[in-house]
Amino acid sequence: MHFLITAGPTREYLDPVRFISNASSGRMGLSIARTALRRGHQVTLIVGPIAPRLPQAARTIRVETTEQMAQACFKHFARTDCVIMSAAVADYQPVVCRTSKIKKRPGKMTLHLKPTTDILAELGRRKKRQLLIGFALETDQPRANALSKLKKKNLDYVVANSPLSLSSERIEATILSAAGESFSTGSVSKLTLARRLVLLGESHFDAPRRH
Ligand code: CTP
Repeated sequence: MHFLITAGPTREYLDPVRFISNASSGRMGLSIARTALRRGHQVTLIVGPIAPRLPQAARTIRVETTEQMAQACFKHFARTDCVIMSAAVADYQPVVCRTSKIKKRPGKMTLHLKPTTDILAELGRRKKRQLLIGFALETDQPRANALSKLKKKNLDYVVANSPLSLSSERIEATILSAAGESFSTGSVSKLTLARRLVLLGESHFDAPRRH
């Protein structure tokens, strides 16, 4: 099988030295990539700026901005069987990115932002045979919000989790399916959740398996 996995944050620049981003460590996506490789799959890994060492056997594309991540995902989507979108993609970008450093001035400052491309929603529109698994980071009404993302983005599964899992070794998640199933993991390592998601992907395809 061919997995397309995204990991880490994206950055949206205000000027040459400042950006909007988030605290994603990329651990979840890297665990999924390592698990899929270990089980004999092909992996395209699209990663935002993160420090950890990346698995060598994956075809890795390093990106910084949401638009770069979007273009890389769209390019590789056609020959993908399963997308696992664990990247913490920035939702907004500055309307203008200054070419010179913004100078400090007295008083308040207002930033004007516009939405970035919703990569997963676009993949949902383009999908044919591909299995789409998204994440939903929620602070309130996790189940209802995650289900609404599942529908809106035309996903097969959504993994609801909380900001506690950002930058953490562990994750507490609920996996919800388009068919109405639901499974809560309890608090598990990201590697344990990774294995569950890769097995879920395999269960939809007649894939060669290694243990
Ligand atoms: N996602 C994406 N492109 C974006 C924003 C999010 O592909 N511009 C993906 C994420 O990688 C994740 C899923 O969509 O798999 C849900 O992301 P999340 O941040 O939880 O939700 P949003 O759709 O951004 O909505 P909100 O921030 O309002 O909860």
